[in-house]
Amino acid sequence: MPAPALAPLRAARAPAVVNLPLPRPALARPPSFSTREFRDALGMFATGVTIVTARNDDGALVGLTASSFNSVSLDPPLVLWSLSRAAASLPAFANGSHYAINVLAADQKALAERFAARGVDRWSGVEHSPGISHAPVLAGAAATFECFNRSRYEEGDHVIFVGEVERCSHRAGVPPLLYHGGRFYTEHPL
Ligand SMILES: Cc1cc2nc3c(=O)[nH]c(=O)nc-3n(C[C@H](O)[C@H](O)[C@H](O)COP(=O)(O)O)c2cc1C
Repeated sequence: MPAPALAPLRAARAPAVVNLPLPRPALARPPSFSTREFRDALGMFATGVTIVTARNDDGALVGLTASSFNSVSLDPPLVLWSLSRAAASLPAFANGSHYAINVLAADQKALAERFAARGVDRWSGVEHSPGISHAPVLAGAAATFECFNRSRYEEGDHVIFVGEVERCSHRAGVPPLLYHGGRFYTEHPL
C-alpha cells in the first residue's frame, strides 16, 4: 500500500508583535539586599589573584593585591581592574603612566596576603625587576601584563582602570592562585 501523503508543513506562525511601551526608568531600583549579601554573592565568582604594581612620582614601589582583573579586548590588547577609592595607592595609579599586573602562582599566597595588609613593608625581600616602563615585575608570577594607563572610569566606590598591554609573558603550566568566597585555592581540573 502506498504511504499516505504527508500533510504539507505549515509555516510557523510569526508571533504577533506587541507594541507595549517598555518601561525605561532613568534610575535603578534601590538594592533589595545588604552589602553582606552582595559580597557573598560576588564571592561565588571564582577569580585569579593579581598584584598590581607601579612606581609613584618619587620612584617608590607601589603594589596591592587585586582580584578584579579581567580581559577587555584582543585588538588592541586591553585589560581592566578596579581599585577602591579608599586605597592608599589610588594617587599613584591615577597619576602614573604605567603599571604591571602580576598574575600570582599558587605558591605566592603569602604575597597575596601581604600586599592586601596595611602597616607592613610589602616589598621586603620581594624579588622583582623593572619592566619596560619601570613598573616592577614580580619574580615567580604565573603571568605578567605590562600596561600603559590608558583610561579610568569612576564608578561608585571604585575606579575602573583600563590598561593597554605593551608586553606580556607567562609561565606555561604553572598552577595559578585562585580566590573564591574569601579563601585561596589552586586549580583542581574536573
Ligand atoms: C584576594 C584579594 C583581592 C582583592 N582585590 C581587590 C581589588 O580588586 N581592588 C581593590 O581595590 N582592593 C582589592 N583588595 C583589597 C586590597 O588589596 C587592600 O585593600 C589593600 O590594602 C589596598 O592597598 P593600598 O591601600 O595600599 O592601596 C583585595 C584583597 C584580597 C585579599
